[in-house]
Amino acid sequence: MASSVKKVPVRRVTLDEQLSKVPRHFSVEGDLLLSHLTAGLSALFPEGEEFFVRSVRRYRDRVRDPVLARQVAGFIGQEAVHGREHRVFNDRLGDLGYPTKSFERLTGRILRLLERISPPIANLATTAAVEHFTATLAEVVLTSEDGDFPGEGGQFKEQAVRDLFVWHALEESEHKAVAFDVYRAVGGPEWLRIWTMKMVRVGFVALMVVQMVVSLLKDRASWKGGALRASWSRFRSAPIMQREVWHALHDYDRRGFHPYDRDTLALEETWRERLFGAEGTMSSYVRGWVA
Ligand SMILES: [Fe+2]
Ligand SMILES: [Fe+2]
Repeated sequence: MASSVKKVPVRRVTLDEQLSKVPRHFSVEGDLLLSHLTAGLSALFPEGEEFFVRSVRRYRDRVRDPVLARQVAGFIGQEAVHGREHRVFNDRLGDLGYPTKSFERLTGRILRLLERISPPIANLATTAAVEHFTATLAEVVLTSEDGDFPGEGGQFKEQAVRDLFVWHALEESEHKAVAFDVYRAVGGPEWLRIWTMKMVRVGFVALMVVQMVVSLLKDRASWKGGALRASWSRFRSAPIMQREVWHALHDYDRRGFHPYDRDTLALEETWRERLFGAEGTMSSYVRGWVA
């Protein structure tokens, strides 16, 4: 699909009230590993998304294509709203005893160090690579949360957490090519794009594993006999742990790859209608809308 036709609308969603009441184990069947994985991902978002915005904004005045320029504005708006809502969720997780706020601060420090030591084009390459990560995870979420009710085949038991993640996943899918297209438009080389993904893959997985281990150690529920083992057998069959997800992440290493090679338009349309259409389940949470 040509980038020239895809819109990136900014929906000013607010889930603050609902997120402030989330219980400690919010994943389906109160699962330990999935709850801690979700908390770990959420910890990365606010600072990560601010870094993406800074990396893309740095090149904004070099984007000549007016359609891509509008998509950049949409991308910045969408990421700003995601960051705000994930901070609210992270505050709640912090109150529940998760080390989420420490991880949020650590992520910020790592990314600011990265910005000091690497050139802007490398930060844009990192952004494009992580955006492929989020787009791949978004596809997993939108596909596996396909039931009408929380927990129906998916990973979230709590409606507010499910709303946060499916809305975020929809928008990650909608803007999945923006950072990539800016990188191309400003002449970012293929070798740097592919090399950066190799680094990001290792760094991202290592960071998630460390986060999950620390987070689980702090949770008394992990120390109950058999709790972790039972969770691990469920976790291994979770959609996010399937081999295809790893293959989809590696697609990015191919020379000539473009995020639209993987067609998610029908999936996005289904969820746009389901969440924000005439009878959208999240329409009432939208405080404003920039098309
Ligand atoms: Fe986002
Ligand atoms: Fe994104």
